[in-house]
Amino acid sequence: MPRRTSFKVRVEPLGEGFDCGSEETILDAAFRSGYLLAHGCREGQCSACKSFLLEGEVDLKPHSSFALSEAEEERGYALLCRAVPVSDVVVELLHFDPENYRLEVPIQSGEVTVEVVETLTHDMRRLRMRLDPGTGFSFRPGQYMELWRPDRADSRSYSMSSLPSEPAVEFLIRRYPGGRFSGLLDGELQPGHRLAFRGPYGNMFLRPGDGPVLLVAGGSGLGPILSLLRDLAEAGSRRPVLLVFGVRRLHDLHSLDLLESLGSRLAEFRLLAALSEPLPDDRWEGETGLAHEVLERALGGGVAAGTQAYVAGPPPMVDAVLEALLRLGLEDADFHCDRFTLAAGGGGA
Ligand code: FES
Repeated sequence: MPRRTSFKVRVEPLGEGFDCGSEETILDAAFRSGYLLAHGCREGQCSACKSFLLEGEVDLKPHSSFALSEAEEERGYALLCRAVPVSDVVVELLHFDPENYRLEVPIQSGEVTVEVVETLTHDMRRLRMRLDPGTGFSFRPGQYMELWRPDRADSRSYSMSSLPSEPAVEFLIRRYPGGRFSGLLDGELQPGHRLAFRGPYGNMFLRPGDGPVLLVAGGSGLGPILSLLRDLAEAGSRRPVLLVFGVRRLHDLHSLDLLESLGSRLAEFRLLAALSEPLPDDRWEGETGLAHEVLERALGGGVAAGTQAYVAGPPPMVDAVLEALLRLGLEDADFHCDRFTLAAGGGGA
């Protein structure tokens, strides 16, 4: 019997399905078919796409045991970004947003031109790139794209900090010494250089509502949070917005004036910048502590009805904020996050 080149995938509780190539991941097939299933890094690192295999079999490409343990795999869980079907399959989504499972903004590929690489702190850079006229590229604030040098195959994922209405895309990128992409930001990448991109990806975009908005950024997680804040400011939102921006030391803080100026366009805005490890000579009079501690102190006894939270940064920070907010009464469905893993997600190296 000839080897099959594609398989049927049915997704529950959607009750809908699509074809998936025999060498394609289920997540990529879903994108190709117009579905925006829950995902984060798309590289088996973050667990956002974890689902349960109700029927059929898949091959799982390499992934971290943090994202999917061996025990979970044996019990029938799978990462859709790593799962390649070897039969027709039925999967049950663990995270499913009934209002947002259709791909509203198509995933595109193309090239952009570097406009500026600006130093923000000792290790943070702002990279701004011009889109070619007529590309039609768009995204939802909070999403990310893959970037790579056209002469090198390996890509890195970064969240846009700009708005889709701008003719350029902007990123806040942490420079890791020797980082395959971020290492280029200390002189190698110059205005006029071309970079390839693919995107947008990611599920952390603003949901409609009237209630308070909590924005929490850890380190370079400020990138997508800045895009969300710009989105709220642009819309002249009447929603109360609290932004917690957590870094380790004073020399890691940046863009506070920009955040305050965007916040001044909102009906109600509070910015809490926090240092988790201030040095004695930091002379810091603002908040100290981890982001979730600062947030808990600010929220007092609980979260108001209708609150939505958007959180971006390292996975331990995101998990600690999630735990704190659930304890304070936030509904699980109102928590939206982007876990920055080193290799992928919004803050790759
Ligand atoms: S583990 Fe699949 S999207 Fe991150």
